[in-house]
Amino acid sequence: MPDIPEFHDRMLSLGLARVSEAAALASARLIGRGSEKAADQAAVDAMRTQLNQLEIQGVVVIGEGERDEAPMLYIGEGVGTGSGPAVDIALDPLEGTTLTAKDMPNALAVIAMGPRGTMLHAPDTYMEKLAIGPGLPEGIVSMDMSPSDRVAAIAEAKGCSTEDITVCVLERPRHEDMIANIRTTGAAVRLITDGDVAAVIHCAEPDTGIDMYMGAGGAPEGVLAAAALKCMGGQILGQLRFRNDAEKERARKAGIEDLDRVYSRDEMVQGDVIFAATGVTDGSMLPGIKREPGWLTAETILMRSKTGSMRRMTYRHPMES
Ligand code: FBP
Repeated sequence: MPDIPEFHDRMLSLGLARVSEAAALASARLIGRGSEKAADQAAVDAMRTQLNQLEIQGVVVIGEGERDEAPMLYIGEGVGTGSGPAVDIALDPLEGTTLTAKDMPNALAVIAMGPRGTMLHAPDTYMEKLAIGPGLPEGIVSMDMSPSDRVAAIAEAKGCSTEDITVCVLERPRHEDMIANIRTTGAAVRLITDGDVAAVIHCAEPDTGIDMYMGAGGAPEGVLAAAALKCMGGQILGQLRFRNDAEKERARKAGIEDLDRVYSRDEMVQGDVIFAATGVTDGSMLPGIKREPGWLTAETILMRSKTGSMRRMTYRHPMES
């Protein structure tokens, strides 16, 4: 690809953290209130307001949907003040709408930013994902391998038994065969109900005990997870999955010609990137929004791929009465 312009990632990173904090804080009052839609809308509104204060010429490439179905933060929407660097933005104001509505763990507000033209315009379809953490040889697992072969390969690379491996998978009927095949190796399967951005990130966090993530989830979440792994190290492969011709058409509209292509991390996110996530409900990656009399507290992780740095930040905000 041509030279990628500088996008002032260091300067913009704190602004990006404010954006994910704002979305998380706004959706927090809807935790456990039973409405996915209301929680998502609150996060979207707040994220957009904050985003429009950043000195960027931003374009949403991963957003809330296409223009005709999403009034705000739709794919292609221009955001920011209109001056400053030209950037691509991938966002999920509320990753885990059901988790929020039901007050279950692991809901997050997530956003990533990179120079214009560097992020895959993934359509809102499914993506088959396969992720592992840093420090492992490039390409030791692939989409062509069976789930059990992937477990054997990672166990060999880590010098341990397959029984020491833990694979994280979204609990869905479509994954039943995959789970059964993984279990033939004696590996553990950690099932999650939602939230595969955090699950992929966990592959790069040794304390979580997760060695590998696999299975089909949202394609937009795949690009966000690739952005996080670009900062943390680790590998992710993604292949779009289509349920019908309309979804294939969506992909073509997004500029994708080869519908079967397997994307690597650096093909999904081609340049440097900054990534921010704020906890909405308590989770394995971040604590959720804490309410105390008069105050709301949010915790955010902020990462830059250029330096491989990660910050954890706590923000205390006076509660409006
Ligand atoms: P939402 O916040 O949009 O509900 O997404 C949650 C999520 O679990 C993602 O993390 C995951 O990629 C996707 O849904 C899986 O989709 P499905 O629920 O259709 O299996």
